[in-house]
Parts: sequence; C-alpha cells; structure tokens
Amino acid sequence: MVAQGWARPLLRPGDEVWVSRMEHHANFLPWQQVCRETGAQLRVIELDPEGTLDLDGAMGLYGPRTRLISLCHVSNVLGIINPIKDVIDQATARGIPVLVDATQSVGHIPVDVNDLGCDFLAFSAHKMFGPSGIGALYAKPERLDEMEPLLLGGGMVDQVEDTGSSWMPYPAKFEAGSPNLADAAGFAAAAEYIDNLGLEAIHSYTSDLAHTAIRKLSRLDGVEIYGPGDSARRGGIVSFNVAGIHAHDVGQIAGEMGVAVRAGHHCCQPLMHHLGVAATVRASFSPYNLSEDVDALVEAVSEAQIIFRQ
Ligand SMILES: Cc1ncc(COP(=O)(O)O)c(C=O)c1O
Repeated sequence: MVAQGWARPLLRPGDEVWVSRMEHHANFLPWQQVCRETGAQLRVIELDPEGTLDLDGAMGLYGPRTRLISLCHVSNVLGIINPIKDVIDQATARGIPVLVDATQSVGHIPVDVNDLGCDFLAFSAHKMFGPSGIGALYAKPERLDEMEPLLLGGGMVDQVEDTGSSWMPYPAKFEAGSPNLADAAGFAAAAEYIDNLGLEAIHSYTSDLAHTAIRKLSRLDGVEIYGPGDSARRGGIVSFNVAGIHAHDVGQIAGEMGVAVRAGHHCCQPLMHHLGVAATVRASFSPYNLSEDVDALVEAVSEAQIIFRQ
C-alpha cells in the first residue's frame, strides 16, 4: 500500500529509497518494484559481520535524494533489534519519512508509534498468534492524506458518478470491499492475549530462552550462530547452521524429534547472500516455550551431528 499508494506518485528518477540487507522480501520487493517503475534508485544499508546495520557506511542515507527509509525493527533471521529510533530521529530532522516493518517486534517487544515518531509502521497478525492474511498499517495523518487508495470498490466511496468519484475519509478510504471480519476478530483476540501477558514480560522471557539456547548451542562443535553476541540487542530468534549438514537436514531431524524449527532462506535471500549460505535453521522462542525446549533443541542438533557424521 505504501509503495504503490504513497511512494509511486511521489518518486522521480534519481530519488532514493533505502532498505537494509536484512529485510524480509516483504520489505524489499515492493521497493525494488516501485523504484523500477519510477526510475528511483534502491539503496541498501549493509551489515557488519555481526549483522549490525552499518549506518556510518551508508553514504547518502540522510541525503537530499532520500525519499524514504524502510527498515525492519527486528530481523526475522538475525533476531537483532535495530536502533530504529536513532534512524527515525536523524531522518525526521531532515524531513525524510521512515517506514518500520514491525512484524517481528509488535507482539514481541514493546512498540509505541508515538515514541518512535515513525511515519509508517506495518505488521502482520500471524507473528503475534493471530490469523494469517491480515495485518495493520499505521501512518501519520499527513502521510495518510498523501496516500492514494490502492484498491477501489465498495465501502470506500463517498460519491460515485460517471464522471468521477470521491472517497470516504481514512481508514475507510483504504479498505475497499467487504472486510475480513472473522480474521479481524481473531487479530483483536490475539492483541488482547498479548496485552494480558505484557510485552515487557514476553520480551524478557523469550530473550532469556534465546540467550540460553545460544549459550548451549555454542558449546557444540561446528555450530555457527548468526546475529550479535550481545543479548541486549536480540529478540527471541536464534538462527544457526551446523558445519557439514544442510539446514533442511537439521530441520528434518529436529522435526522428527518433536522440535519445531524452520529451515530455509526465511524470505531473506539478500541476507543469505551476505551470510554466504543458502539457508539457516531458525528457532523462534515464544511465551509457551520452556527451558526444556531449549534442551530438546540442543539434543536434536547433537543427534543430527551423529546421524550425518556416520
Ligand atoms: C520481518 C518480517 N516482515 C514481513 C513479513 C511478512 O509478513 P506477511 O507475510 O504478512 O506479508 C515477515 C514474516 O512473515 C517478517 O518476519
């Protein structure tokens, strides 16, 4: 919606849109596409070896050509929590809008759009125990005023005439068609559930589990863990590889032992190229996990090593 409804009418050849090397394809492809369509340039903030954004090396990030910076708050692969507020403060001081992909942060760590001061913030219900196929977009009122509706149809119109039509005020303007009521109810229930648990509590509990997993996995030979060593900069995600064993093989053995991990490129191929791997194994800790689950994960990785080294 933001790429096609807000950025496309505004972008001119020579303008720049910045993303980072760790973006999910969901926050990479819409910008690549809109840049192609408008002649703008897609610029990428590179990462240091730990996965930290190399903001100092991103020449021109806050320059006069930048029309938007679009960054994830928490990486779905590295688990890193980006210094998003610093970027927003710097960008806002120069009148540059910032979009936050908060899919991995809302529901995992406290997020306050007013405190962040971001122009746009998007997230998906399925990463916070809600249904898939529904999410939310926050935008400052002035950005919503600038944004064209992407989808047209019932429910978003004020007047429709043969010669032209007018729209309802937002949010209705951006919600053409019959709404997805059932999933919205599920989304609200998920938000309530998370509110009741408390985001501070969720964050501290899941990052403790992740930290324990990192400590225990690091003791195994040949396990490489991606992302920063400093646990204060991490959420509940741990991505790793095991030397000599494909991530999918580790995932399969773990699955057979009842340990649900995800193996693959995690919709982050630019990051996989940067890490020099085709795939990683990812454990994502949640409030329902116990420390026994960490031990089961470590046991599964050890078992994979035994099986594949025979
Ligand atoms: C950081 C991040 N951004 C975006 C997405 C994509 O969300 P959706 O599939 O709802 O577009 C995901 C995962 O699904 C994600 O982890």
